[in-house]
Amino acid sequence: MPRKIIIDTDPGQDDAVAILLALASPEVEVLGVVAVAGNVPLDLTTKNARIVCELAGRPDIKVFAGCDRPLRHELVTAEHVHGKTGLDGPVMPDPSMPVEHQHGVDFIIETLRSEPPGSVTLCPLGPLTNIATAFEKAPDVVARVQEIVLMGGAYFQVGNITPAAEFNIYVDPEAAEIVFKSGRPITVMPLDVTHKALTTAPRVEAFRALGTEPGRMVAEWTDFFERFDKEKYGSAGAPLHDPCVIAYLIRPELFSGRHVNVEIETQSELTRGMTVADWWHVTDRAPNAMFMGDVDAEGFFDLLTERIGRL
Ligand code: BDR
Ligand code: CA
Repeated sequence: MPRKIIIDTDPGQDDAVAILLALASPEVEVLGVVAVAGNVPLDLTTKNARIVCELAGRPDIKVFAGCDRPLRHELVTAEHVHGKTGLDGPVMPDPSMPVEHQHGVDFIIETLRSEPPGSVTLCPLGPLTNIATAFEKAPDVVARVQEIVLMGGAYFQVGNITPAAEFNIYVDPEAAEIVFKSGRPITVMPLDVTHKALTTAPRVEAFRALGTEPGRMVAEWTDFFERFDKEKYGSAGAPLHDPCVIAYLIRPELFSGRHVNVEIETQSELTRGMTVADWWHVTDRAPNAMFMGDVDAEGFFDLLTERIGRL
């Protein structure tokens, strides 16, 4: 039986690849895609989510608009990484599939209430605003979540939007705090992992060589997305952050990490959004998250290329 998932996302080229991976994989059943404000404002992330579903040949997927701003702070966006549209790179047609009328947060709540308890996994690929809002609005649904597998945070790599914080957590640290204190099983793909999942030239060429429209789009998105990381980090390519979440659901053995305590800094101006992960178990704070540290990058890209090739 495929694992039922809700993808909560702010596409973003790497979010887009994650959605394609999920839609290409029989191990997961995508119950819905919920957009959140993050890399770009909500109207664009909602549009981009639909563009990606159509690219995958799945206009039947339900796409919802969620929250348009973080719980307490002004929205911080990342056009400097993803471009003005959030999906800069190849020219994409406007989507023709609809946005669902229901608010994305209500979809999350309703789905968790209607599916059997412990059967739905939440996959946040952006700021945690929608998930935290659902948990606050309907506390009864929290216990019904099977697992939360998210991209966010960092320990060894520390920060990419500030010296101390990773983007998804920084944009809405209050939401992240609610999620990390939820008591549900959490698996985290931090920058420590995603900065090892780099799009080197041969990996990008493998996508292009698929000879399909999705393969070409993935190659062109990564071409665009790479320029930022190559300049900033001097790395061989760009980290494909968000697909790590979906790859973990399909091939968990590709990843390794530690079950540790993770607290979110919400107060300090200097370190707001930092994921304070007790990697070395130097406190007696109870572990609340499986914090990944490593990935078999070859295995990850082999999986990704093979699956994108199915679309
Ligand atoms: C995260 O921030 C976004 O820019 C990416 O889509 C990813 O989810 C990486 O810090
Ligand atoms: Ca994202």
